[in-house]
Amino acid sequence: MAFTLPPLPYADDALEPDYSARIISFHYGKHHKTYVDNLNKLIAGTDLESTSLEEIIKLAAADPTKAGMFNNAAQIWNHTFFWNCMKPKGGGKPQGALAAQIDAAFGSYEKFAEQFKATAVGRFGSGWGWLVLEGGALKIVATPNAETPMTKGQVALLTVDVWEHAYYLDYQNRRPDFVQAFLDKLVNWDFVAANLA
Ligand SMILES: [Fe+2]
Repeated sequence: MAFTLPPLPYADDALEPDYSARIISFHYGKHHKTYVDNLNKLIAGTDLESTSLEEIIKLAAADPTKAGMFNNAAQIWNHTFFWNCMKPKGGGKPQGALAAQIDAAFGSYEKFAEQFKATAVGRFGSGWGWLVLEGGALKIVATPNAETPMTKGQVALLTVDVWEHAYYLDYQNRRPDFVQAFLDKLVNWDFVAANLA
C-alpha cells in the first residue's frame, strides 16, 4: 500500500499573513508531496510496502545503503509533524502544565524562546529545530537535513523547519524573522502538550 500525502490540519491560507498560502502551495504541495512520491518509488514491489513509516525510518537509519529511503521517509514524517506544530492564531506562551515544565527546564518561556530561536537559526544549512523529550528531560536540539529525533532516543514535541524552502518565499534570507514569527504567531501548543502527555 502506497503512502499518501496527509491532509493539512487547516486551510492553505489559514496561517496568513505569517505563513502564506503561496509558500504552503510549494512547501506542502510540492516538497512534501515529492518526498511521498519518492518513498513510494523506493518501496514499490518490496516487502516495505506494508511497513509503517516509523519502522521504515528506523530501519533505513540503521542501514547506510538506504540513505535515500531514510531521507524521504524522515522528511515525510518531519513535515507532517511540522504542519501540526502550527495553527491559526497560534504562538505566544504555552499554558498550564506545559508552561510549568518549560519554566522548570529553561528558566522561563522567554529563555526557552531565546534558546529555541538561537538553535534553529544557528543550524548551518538545511535542517530542523526541535523541542524534544530525552530521558525525561526537555531539550532543544537541531538536526541537519532529514535527521529526526526518533532515531536518537528522543521524543519530538515541537519542530520548526529551517530548510530555505520552508521560508524563502515569505521571508527570503531572514531565517530569524521566520523563527520569531513561528514562535509568536504560529506554534500550536496544544499539539506540543499532547505529544508530552
Ligand atoms: Fe520543508
